[in-house]
Amino acid sequence: MKILNYGSLNIDHVYTMPAFVKAGETLSAKDCQLHTGGKGLNQSVALARAGAQVFHGGKIGSDGLGLKRFLEDAGADCRFVRVDPDEPTGHAIIQVVDSGENCILIYGGTNKRITEDEIDETLSFFEAGDMLLLQNEISNVNYLIRRAHEKGMTVALNPSPITDELLAYEELDLLDWMIVNRGEAEAFAGIESEDPDEVIDALQAKYSRASIVMTLGKRGSMCVSHGNKYYSRTYDYGRRVDTTGAGDTFTGYFLAGLSKGMPISACMDIASRASGISVTIAGAANSIPSAEAVLKAVPIELKEGE
Ligand code: RIB
Repeated sequence: MKILNYGSLNIDHVYTMPAFVKAGETLSAKDCQLHTGGKGLNQSVALARAGAQVFHGGKIGSDGLGLKRFLEDAGADCRFVRVDPDEPTGHAIIQVVDSGENCILIYGGTNKRITEDEIDETLSFFEAGDMLLLQNEISNVNYLIRRAHEKGMTVALNPSPITDELLAYEELDLLDWMIVNRGEAEAFAGIESEDPDEVIDALQAKYSRASIVMTLGKRGSMCVSHGNKYYSRTYDYGRRVDTTGAGDTFTGYFLAGLSKGMPISACMDIASRASGISVTIAGAANSIPSAEAVLKAVPIELKEGE
């Protein structure tokens, strides 16, 4: 199965902060680094490192050629990454604090200049049974869902970041897979609940066609698919340095597993392991481990139990 991931490519400006900046406040950063990122790019890197056959669709400016090289080196096919010399590449301003948590501001740039004609041209290379993966950092997400569904492709959406525009798309009813975090699940389902089962059940009731994976941070993840429920734990590999890209790592590893015919529980488990490793390394795309590294790494509690 070929996977087309049509998604953002960003230059990440990452600031190590003593605390998140509040309204009206000025704070001095302890460190500043440029990293390769974008939810789309990160997920393609994770898919490729997990061993999937991934094609990345997207758009960069002339300042983003290094992002394309990074993706190619990771093993993604970049023939559908177009260059628009008149627009800057998308970027993100990311604050990271000591706990490893982040807050992110994105500027779309070329990510928001993807046209219907480019989408049609790209999709013509794919066929029924192939998969389309999307996030919500590019233009024409609803068009992509509709056209890929019409072709018989499996359509998966990681709806980050959530916007009112996205929530209103009728095309969401066509999704085959939704990969959401707890906050996104509640926004889609229109409920707030302490009980994650209640949240995922409400989401399933609303989008009955889709299989749904919901990540729960330190509480692991859960999935509903064709009437069955699956649960997975998290893995601890050491100090959490930077959580940026952890969700992207999970999504890429999970879908790579599916594309290789792995059972859902095994896909969730390897995705949890890969994202657990990614938070111990600073940065987004560069923190995504190879499949070999995931297999070799031993979680802390297992080491202690030896
Ligand atoms: O999910 C993390 C990513 O979100 C960052 O790499 C940043 O570019 C934003 O897209």
